[in-house]
Amino acid sequence: MSYSHSLSVDSSLKGKQVFITGVTGFLGKAIVEKILREVPSVGKVHILVRGSARQSAYERCMEGVFQSSIFDVLKSTHGNQFQQLIDQKVHIVEGELTEPLFGLNPTNFALLGSKLDLIINSAASVNFRENLDQALKINTLCLNNIISLANYNSHEEAVTSVLQVSTCYVNGMNQGEMLEKVARPCSGLIPEIDHDTYEIKPLIQLFQTKIEAIKNRFPDANKQEQKLIQLGIQQSRHYGWNDTYTLTKWLGEQLLIQGLGKKNLTILRPSIIESTVFSPVQGWVEGVKVADAMIYAYAKGRVSIFPGDTKGILDVIPVDLVANAAILASAQLLQHAPENNQQAYNIYQCCSGRLNPISLEHFIEHFQQASLEQFEDLPKLFAGKPQEMFTIVSQKKFALYMKMFTTFTWLKTSLARLAGSKSAGKHLLKIQTTTSLAMIFGFYSAPRYRFDSLQLEGLKTLFSLEEQKAFEVSANSYDWKNYLRDIHLPGLHKYGLADKRKPSTPEKESHEKRQAA
Ligand SMILES: NC(=O)c1ccc[n+]([C@@H]2O[C@H](COP(=O)([O-])OP(=O)(O)OC[C@H]3O[C@@H](n4cnc5c(N)ncnc54)[C@H](OP(=O)(O)O)[C@@H]3O)[C@@H](O)[C@H]2O)c1
Repeated sequence: MSYSHSLSVDSSLKGKQVFITGVTGFLGKAIVEKILREVPSVGKVHILVRGSARQSAYERCMEGVFQSSIFDVLKSTHGNQFQQLIDQKVHIVEGELTEPLFGLNPTNFALLGSKLDLIINSAASVNFRENLDQALKINTLCLNNIISLANYNSHEEAVTSVLQVSTCYVNGMNQGEMLEKVARPCSGLIPEIDHDTYEIKPLIQLFQTKIEAIKNRFPDANKQEQKLIQLGIQQSRHYGWNDTYTLTKWLGEQLLIQGLGKKNLTILRPSIIESTVFSPVQGWVEGVKVADAMIYAYAKGRVSIFPGDTKGILDVIPVDLVANAAILASAQLLQHAPENNQQAYNIYQCCSGRLNPISLEHFIEHFQQASLEQFEDLPKLFAGKPQEMFTIVSQKKFALYMKMFTTFTWLKTSLARLAGSKSAGKHLLKIQTTTSLAMIFGFYSAPRYRFDSLQLEGLKTLFSLEEQKAFEVSANSYDWKNYLRDIHLPGLHKYGLADKRKPSTPEKESHEKRQAA
């Protein structure tokens, strides 16, 4: 490994045309903000945004992206020149990731492709239990569009560099040390074609046949949705993943590796992304993310016991470190591209398990203590002083406890109803919340794997010390106690639970229509 400081973010991205998807989302915003703030020499940032029936892509962006508090620092630096900066550096492309050519006409698609130096694909459905049809379209098949776009490179025989944001959890149900390599499906049921490539085409076809059969058999939209969710989970477990999200993200990695012929491709896998630790402000987070769903439910008194492994490493990583990793990896991809057209590709895992591991037990300890100290200062989060300790038990004990608690609640509810009261409603809500959270996140709280990030550490050393600091990627740069208690929890209260109106998405609108019907 070379330590020659041979790479530079500034010179690699200078004048470059970068296409980014997923910018209305959590990570996408952090990447765009950091580029605009720290890499002013970038040529243009083209962002793909869906329009909706209520708002054009431009309106969604102005409201849902640039009004976000993550841009406050940039706004205060640029004052009334902020809008000028956006107009000068950002080009909004209205498009739907899953439509052929993003729904653009072929001329515009080709024109866009011919301009680009780099594509960063951050868009995804991060719903662990997404229906298989949707998840396959968004996390896997839309990568065919990314491949087509990359192939419009203006240099003969070259493809535009692609940075694919994936997830550490593509490692599925494999156990032990998870290296920055292609993940081998642990079921052994997907045949290997060659080194690092697997037979995904027949598998995708099989899924599509099953999806069509369900669509034909269950015309009712709600029933169909439930069946497609179940299908996703069944197939994921069968082939070696916990959920539909991680299976379809793994398929996405494969599709890109095979479709781009390994040229100029980097896969960046974050673990569980949480609030910023350093910049632009500490604690910025959007909405209630994975681990926060549990924190939120506990704060509201809706969960106090959870299945898990107290000694397991809970792998959480701040979003600014992930955005920085995306930028360093992009700079590496762009160095000498497209001439280099490398035949191998890089995989980087942006995670905390190697450099700064924290066990579930310690994570909860910090959080528990912070809850008791800060509940009065965080009223949007806490309903009051936490009444119970958050307890982690084995899956077996959890099942037993839930059985007893359900019986007790059923008896209490029946007696209360006889007496004309509804006082047991709180317990019923607790059972529902705990059961549903355990079903979705149980796998993540009982980790039998640890993610490695040696390659990413190596990448960092290729940049100057100044850029290593400006684009920090290492999880040992902060202390967990300080992060969880003084940064993340207050950040979740201040930013995650802020009352900002979120722009509607095409999916939300069609869901609303379905509900109305
Ligand atoms: N969050 C995590 O903890 C985590 C952990 C590991 C890896 N990752 C990866 O990081 C990336 C970003 O995740 P995130 O947390 O930022 O997700 P997010 O907040 O849910 O954002 C998802 C983005 O994808 C866009 N998108 C979804 N479907 C689309 C479509 N059909 N056409 C166009 N855009 C579409 C969304 O746009 P709309 O606003 O139009 O819906 C949104 O901008 C993903 O690739 C994810 O797999 C996330």
